Amino acid sequence: MKSLNRRRFLGRTAAAGLAALPVTRGLTAESTAGDPSSVSAGPSYAPDRSNDDPLGVRASFPVTEELAYLNTASVGPLPVPVRDALHAYADEKMHRRNTSVGREAIASARTRFSRLFGADEEELAFLYATSGAENIIVSAMDWRAGDNVVVDELHFVTTFVLYRELERKAGIELRSIPSKGGAVTLDDFAAHTDQRTRLISVAWVSNRNGFRYDLPALADLAHAHGAYLYADAIQAWGTFPTNLHAEKVDFACGNGYKWLHGDFGCAPFYVRREHLEWMTADRYGHRQVAETLPGHRFRLKTSAEKLEYANPAYGPVAAMDAALGFLEGVGLDRIASHTHALASELRAGAEALGMRMFTPPDNPSAIVSFYHGLDPERLGPALAEAGVAITFQEEGDLLRAAVGMFNNRSDVDRLLGVLAGLV
Ligand SMILES: Cc1ncc(COP(=O)(O)O)c(C=O)c1O
Repeated sequence: MKSLNRRRFLGRTAAAGLAALPVTRGLTAESTAGDPSSVSAGPSYAPDRSNDDPLGVRASFPVTEELAYLNTASVGPLPVPVRDALHAYADEKMHRRNTSVGREAIASARTRFSRLFGADEEELAFLYATSGAENIIVSAMDWRAGDNVVVDELHFVTTFVLYRELERKAGIELRSIPSKGGAVTLDDFAAHTDQRTRLISVAWVSNRNGFRYDLPALADLAHAHGAYLYADAIQAWGTFPTNLHAEKVDFACGNGYKWLHGDFGCAPFYVRREHLEWMTADRYGHRQVAETLPGHRFRLKTSAEKLEYANPAYGPVAAMDAALGFLEGVGLDRIASHTHALASELRAGAEALGMRMFTPPDNPSAIVSFYHGLDPERLGPALAEAGVAITFQEEGDLLRAAVGMFNNRSDVDRLLGVLAGLV
């Protein structure tokens, strides 16, 4: 069965020119996700000869010249305009000609983010990391022993670390729902939610297999029990059009270094307006001051900006601002239709090779995870040799492919060609 599939696959892809694969390195492992050093450029320069560029963005992503980069779920490569913005920031820091550049960048990023994702500017704070948001929410809430938080096993590790600590410190209960067929249904959440549930927390698009949650339905469920819904948006923002008000979510946060194509260190945090009054900061500092009163007394800001207690990392903020401008120019609707369609093709190709999917069918996201059933010791070097950048998970048994706006069929074929060669 497997060899038949392999022959069929090779027959189908021969015309795509798989014989002339550029030789570069690019393999990354899940343990290095989030680490800039995990993105390895190849030693030899081998331009991609394919003209297939549905969104007209490949020239803005030099990474496409060297790698079949299917790893934006780990770290999104910088497009040229974002690199240029970082360059301009560094130049300003060197010459000190326009000292307001940082303040201008954060104001512009706030406006752009609100416009692109359907939030009000007052509902936005820029944090250092995604993981910071859930910590702020938890520290602002008043917990009693016996309260519970409902999550599921497709969530990111930060969430489990945080609530295990809260179990220990405050006597709450962490309820984690197992996934079935790579999905967790609304009924599963309903079965675990009760009057002592204070928070439902999901990775809006799962980092493990790209499963995408129905936020409005989960928000209705949470609100019917007097609870809140938090969405970790790092694998969601930048991959499809959305409006945070219409999503009904109470809080959402996602760092800039993946699908927004910005840098580490700038994570927009959305706090729904109705929660701003009780949402207190978990630390205090000079940037929260709205008005200085006599005797070292202060009136503090009341918008979500009150969560920005000190100077932000202006470099990553400048990158965020440029990245949002770039995304706006490309269009989230175009990004979603291209990447979701290409992810479906990748899925079909891997299924045709007999690989078992971890991502459920008809899932509207750009991530596809599957059990390759091959020897990871052979597969890893083969992918690296072919210049395919991708993430191995679960001791190397699972491959997570992430299709970015700049990817094309030849990138997908390069991955499938390597797999077919080993089946
Ligand atoms: C779903 C998810 N949340 C959070 C993170 C980590 O984000 P941060 O370092 O900004 O906290 C990752 C990184 O891989 C992730 O995939």
